[in-house]
Amino acid sequence: MKRSKRFETLAERPVNKDGFIEEWPEMGFAAMHSPYDPKPSIKIQNGKVMELDGVPREKFDFIDQFIADYVIRPDRAEKSMAMDSLEIARKIVDINVPRKEILKICSGITPAKLAEIICHMNVVELMMAMQKMRARKMPGNQAHVTNLKDDPVQLAADAAECALRGFSEEETTMGVARYAPFSAMALLIGSQVGRRGVLTQCSAEEATELELGIRGLTTYAETLSVYGTEQVFVDGDDTPYSKSFLNAAYASRGLKVRFTSGAGSEVLMGQAEKKSMLYLECRCLFVTKGAGAQGTQNGSVSCIGIAASVPAGLREVLGENVAATLLGLECCSSNDQSFSHSPMRRTARTMLQFFPGTDYIFSGYAGEDNYDNLFAGSNFDANDFDDYNIMQRDMQVDGGLRPVREEEVIAVRRKAAKAVQVVFKRLGLSEVTDEQVEAVVYAHGSKDTLSRDVAGDLVAAEDMMKRGITGIDVVRALAEGGFEDVADSVLNMLKQRVVGDYLQTSAILDENFKVLSGVNTPNDYMGPGTGYRVEGKRWDEIKAVDNLIRPEDF
Ligand code: 5AD
Ligand code: CA
Repeated sequence: MKRSKRFETLAERPVNKDGFIEEWPEMGFAAMHSPYDPKPSIKIQNGKVMELDGVPREKFDFIDQFIADYVIRPDRAEKSMAMDSLEIARKIVDINVPRKEILKICSGITPAKLAEIICHMNVVELMMAMQKMRARKMPGNQAHVTNLKDDPVQLAADAAECALRGFSEEETTMGVARYAPFSAMALLIGSQVGRRGVLTQCSAEEATELELGIRGLTTYAETLSVYGTEQVFVDGDDTPYSKSFLNAAYASRGLKVRFTSGAGSEVLMGQAEKKSMLYLECRCLFVTKGAGAQGTQNGSVSCIGIAASVPAGLREVLGENVAATLLGLECCSSNDQSFSHSPMRRTARTMLQFFPGTDYIFSGYAGEDNYDNLFAGSNFDANDFDDYNIMQRDMQVDGGLRPVREEEVIAVRRKAAKAVQVVFKRLGLSEVTDEQVEAVVYAHGSKDTLSRDVAGDLVAAEDMMKRGITGIDVVRALAEGGFEDVADSVLNMLKQRVVGDYLQTSAILDENFKVLSGVNTPNDYMGPGTGYRVEGKRWDEIKAVDNLIRPEDF
């Protein structure tokens, strides 16, 4: 066939490098609905759930049993389940029905009912739902801070810059797992240099991650993964009970926790049981709630390639974000993995969370060039900062970030790098040279930095753990090394765990260490003139991008 030049040109477009698959519910390739999804149902006897979504109690798998026993309120179930799903969906988008009333209704529904309610909403209605149902009044954002060399000096500088740019939380992970103690410590120090009160986490193997938290080197944990089928849980040597136990271990030391789940994981692991991604994710969210976690990182997350390959996949992603909020959970709404070659498509995907605002629009915006992103690349990276700031300004939307000046960024990068240098020296860890500090201050990424002695670093990191170094040692080293203000800030982060307020749903800290959460600053959106509005100081900040033409220029 003679090719049309137009089609030849289209074939070269980035979007045509993406992968798409036809719906195939038998293998789990169904976003919102599968013909094999159960019909919503409940039977309560003597305050006990005896049937859940068509399954009688004696046939429950461990997920059903956990949900029946710990999540659904038996005193509300019959009333909520008797309501038409369409009517509930309409109440959700009705500005006259307050968020609290929706939460009450949803405390008595089942996973299949939750999925059915979500299916009644198109993307604009889902955005309306998110705007009203998000737990915290003001939205927020989270950064990934990583680099290819696991360089703690760069980590600290990047953490400081990202904190200055407005992120409320920062997450790191490693290429070489044994770097974890250094990474956690560098992130903790750097974040506080950029802006006091930023929360930090280090995604690592579960026991290591818990130990870093207990030692005060991190301030929250996020990747406690749960899954929507029993088989996938078992493949990971886990159950809803083991995850609850881990959650309780963190809570016992005053550490904030959110779970992780999302569309596509069961498909990837070959155990979707013919169910839709949305229905399986609803089960995950019920497990999250039952385990006592205050929130979730969801929206397909690392499995976005699967969700984005099927029809209505990105609608489903927003749908599962909204589903989390309907259960009263904090929602850290993904956007944290690159999934498309098309800049238009990746932007469109993010706008679904950006416009309504979620507790964290990205559960990992790459705070570095994506070549340095060890979470396999995020949907937006450091090269997109200016585009993002302009989008906030264009739409008068708070996406959690702000424009910054080059000289301020250089200053906080230097201070963070030097603080790490001092702490390493005082704690007797490996050497950080002045040349390394200087290179990191001006670097775009790890291609511009000096290499470290990896073997020496790993010996020192291991020794740091053996010697029982904790957050308090970091505070002392900072204070004695001339960084009293950073020491004070890290100490305040440690105090939070004794105070415990940041265990409230959707908690973040402002620069005075005041908690802003779904409890003390709840979302009170009820239509125009209510809820969070971008105005005043925050709007001035968003407007003040660089390269402005000003009246006084004429
Ligand atoms: N379901 C469950 N856990 C997920 N993670 C990412 N995507 C999902 C998902 N869809 C978790 C995994 C991974 C980390 C980055 O987040 O634990 O290691
Ligand atoms: Ca994350």
